[in-house]
Amino acid sequence: MSEEQRVNGGRIKPDLENNVGETEKDYSQYFETVYTEPSLKKARKRGGEEIAYFDDFEIDERFQGMGVGRKFFIKTYGCQMNEHDTEVIAGIFTVLGYEVADTVEDANIILLNTCAIRENAENKVFGELGHLKPLKQRNPDVLIGVCGCMSQEESVVNKILKTYDQVDMIFGTHNIHRLPNIIHEAYMSKEMVIEVWSKEGDIIENLPKVRHGDIKAWVNIMYGCDKFCTYCIVPYTRGKERSRRPEDIILEIRQLAAQGYKEITLLGQNVNAYGKDFEDLDYRFGDLMDDLRKIDIPRVRFTTSHPRDFDDHLIEVLAKGGNLVEHIHLPVQSGSTSMLKIMGRIYSREEFLELVRKIKVAIPDVSLTTDIIVGFPNETDEQFEETITLYEEVGFETAFTYIYSPRDGTPAEKMADNIPMDVKKARLQRLNKLVNEYSAKALKRFEGQIVEVLVEGESKRNEEVLSGYTRQSKLVNFRGPKSITGQLVYVKIKEAKTWSLDGEFIGVVEKKEVMI
Ligand code: 5AD
Ligand code: SF4
Repeated sequence: MSEEQRVNGGRIKPDLENNVGETEKDYSQYFETVYTEPSLKKARKRGGEEIAYFDDFEIDERFQGMGVGRKFFIKTYGCQMNEHDTEVIAGIFTVLGYEVADTVEDANIILLNTCAIRENAENKVFGELGHLKPLKQRNPDVLIGVCGCMSQEESVVNKILKTYDQVDMIFGTHNIHRLPNIIHEAYMSKEMVIEVWSKEGDIIENLPKVRHGDIKAWVNIMYGCDKFCTYCIVPYTRGKERSRRPEDIILEIRQLAAQGYKEITLLGQNVNAYGKDFEDLDYRFGDLMDDLRKIDIPRVRFTTSHPRDFDDHLIEVLAKGGNLVEHIHLPVQSGSTSMLKIMGRIYSREEFLELVRKIKVAIPDVSLTTDIIVGFPNETDEQFEETITLYEEVGFETAFTYIYSPRDGTPAEKMADNIPMDVKKARLQRLNKLVNEYSAKALKRFEGQIVEVLVEGESKRNEEVLSGYTRQSKLVNFRGPKSITGQLVYVKIKEAKTWSLDGEFIGVVEKKEVMI
């Protein structure tokens, strides 16, 4: 293995200058815009491709200054991963000279960064494309683009090609760094520009970012998912599990700390699988958290985790506390072992409960939250009841709850389903009632306590009031000087409301010792 490959974890880094990779692989695609549409068949494949690692992103001379005097507007749908991708896209636009537009009317380029997780997420995007049609007719020079998870779907691209001719460009989640070429092509071409690679994915470092806010920041630690839960589209839209090098992550977080950020949220579809793909390193998520604990940044969170890869070492490290907060989002999806099996979740109800027991013993004041799907094909009343009893047994503090939505090309889509929609809706209602009861109870327990709050600024509802979140992700509203925005403060909780806590400002938290 060459020195460079060793440094990059056995990954191949193509020689960009000579346009040749260190392997036989053809990297010419990184230079010329290729018209490629997504392929479900290719998106399903795992293991065949090298992961290319790039750390020398730069804007080609041809495109420098391309955006001067022009503005961009990005509308983001879906999860934090997408929000963070939008920060990268905004970073690339900014380097090209574009400025942010306040409204779509004011923009020269409009991008929809889309989510494919459920049908209603997709319908919102199609609705928005419909709304943008008159604008495009009034102003044919405006460019409209679709990116994000929906653009990775063959069926979506076909639908856009057929029905939404107001769209000028479609690019995929693996093609973000190619934005300058894609925009250039869209300016030059009369045809819709489509560049979507259905591949396992690369790792591209040093992409520019325009972060949203200066208090909290997102940091990707890994990309993709190999779990292939039978209902889920993500492994097809985001590619194979691939981890960023620890040194790159640590450097990024140190820089954020130096810039004054107070909270980091580590992002990955399945952060617990972090490091599994390293060939040269025995370094997993627990090791990363142990290293991040030593960085002088007050809070580190992560989302989202899969119960299967949540190992004892990780629990042991999280129990050390310090900047590792007492909140774990642990999607369970169902409380029934037989249903979990059909969902492809690779753990049983009992195994999940055992994991929860271990976490609670190690971190007594942990707040556990979850994701649940109801109305999976043929879910019986008994299976649904098991979800209810599991929720009670764990005592989750809140949950994101969903009705199952069939996704194109997933195994579950092909399952016959004998559960009527009104039964699914009734189950969701019943579950949501329980979730709300537990959320209220979880807030109530803070009454009278003094909690640490990271102040984010004026409350959305009342500018006289400040708001922020506790370590366990509870929203707190209180009165205090605006000057404490961005600081960690102590607040005494007076009253638990339905969705938040009301409190009284006590004082600023003195800088804590970094835990080693
Ligand atoms: N239908 C409904 N919910 C889904 N999720 C993922 N795929 C689907 C689907 N096809 C939910 C899961 C996951 C969360 C991000 O979205 O609960 O944890
Ligand atoms: Fe989807 Fe399952 Fe991967 Fe989560 S772990 S992204 S639910 S396939």
